[in-house]
Amino acid sequence: MYRAAIVGCGRIGCGFDDDPRREHVSTHAGAYVRTPGVELVALSDVDAAKLDRYGDKFQVQGRYLDYQEMLRREALDILSVCTWSPTHRQILEDAVAAGVKAVFCEKPIAESLEAADAMVRCCTHAGVLLMINCQRRFDSMHQQLAELLQDGRLGKVQQVTCYYSGGVANNGGHLFDVLRFLFGEVAWVQGTLSENPSPNPDDPNLDGCMKFRSGLLAVVQACDSSQFSVFELNILAARGRLAIRRFGLEVQFEEVRQSEQFSEDRDFYPAAPPVELGSQEFMLQAVAHLVDCLQHRRKPICSGEDGRRALELIMGMLTSAHDGSRRVSMPLLSSPVVIPSR
Ligand SMILES: NC(=O)c1ccc[n+]([C@@H]2O[C@H](COP(=O)([O-])OP(=O)(O)OC[C@H]3O[C@@H](n4cnc5c(N)ncnc54)[C@H](O)[C@@H]3O)[C@@H](O)[C@H]2O)c1
Repeated sequence: MYRAAIVGCGRIGCGFDDDPRREHVSTHAGAYVRTPGVELVALSDVDAAKLDRYGDKFQVQGRYLDYQEMLRREALDILSVCTWSPTHRQILEDAVAAGVKAVFCEKPIAESLEAADAMVRCCTHAGVLLMINCQRRFDSMHQQLAELLQDGRLGKVQQVTCYYSGGVANNGGHLFDVLRFLFGEVAWVQGTLSENPSPNPDDPNLDGCMKFRSGLLAVVQACDSSQFSVFELNILAARGRLAIRRFGLEVQFEEVRQSEQFSEDRDFYPAAPPVELGSQEFMLQAVAHLVDCLQHRRKPICSGEDGRRALELIMGMLTSAHDGSRRVSMPLLSSPVVIPSR
């Protein structure tokens, strides 16, 4: 039985599961308490009210205002880091020093590339498994999509257009990770400040584009979440159009065939999606994957390096937006950009 704990009992740590509209397990705590082979033994938050509330809800005895004390007392195997990114590095380094076997860290991995590199190095050196919660990677539908696009079953991908809301570091980072998961490594990025504001003045909305090493261009466009929230990819390939919608919970497909209106054209027509939806239990699948990786000493499908790559794309976009929308080549070995606390 792996002993797990969480630092940060906010929305993703514990709170999202309070929402009666959410059909799926949406927190680290919810996933740990439902996963065989794992026991959620402790929670830490600087907010005592959250400790009480979620300690009671998830029936966790160990409750700590100070995560260092938790690390000293609880002999943990797995630690979830669910605080804001500027705190991730210190908590991870303390957890590794305390002897955890795995760290399941929220995205963005860190507030700077320097911190992200230090985290990856620290875990590699200590033989600790580091998994980042870019959670669509754990979903079987997204895994099928990646295979389908990479083995060419839809033919040449011509264009990709994406919409997101909620800030480039926050939801933009998820989008960049999905794009990289589906289409591989990026050659360069370009960004500009969006006309549609982000809810967080410290995390702007950027419009931009991403050129992949394959030659594919993806356009990313930001929307104002005070009007609606969106996370959507539209992929136009030789054999059909895929629309991944509703934050990755829905997929629509149109196949390319002879136009019904024009003899010389081919057009898109609704058809059954070429992938299965799966359980859509991103968090449950993430924790099950973490346990499997621990048991079989496998590298996770969303490793520290993957988290670093997603951060690199955020940093590249921000650098471009602050510097006349110039092209920023990838990979970025270093960057002075720091993501602020929230
Ligand atoms: N993967 C996802 O889909 C997803 C969704 C939401 C948030 N996130 C990420 O998770 C992280 C947290 O976001 P959130 O929205 O849950 O934030 P939140 O503000 O709701 O929760 C953060 C919690 O951490 C606690 N905290 C801060 N410093 C602490 C410390 N030193 N020790 C103990 N507790 C401490 C705060 O009191 C708070 O309860 C961010 O990095 C965010 O980007 C990821």
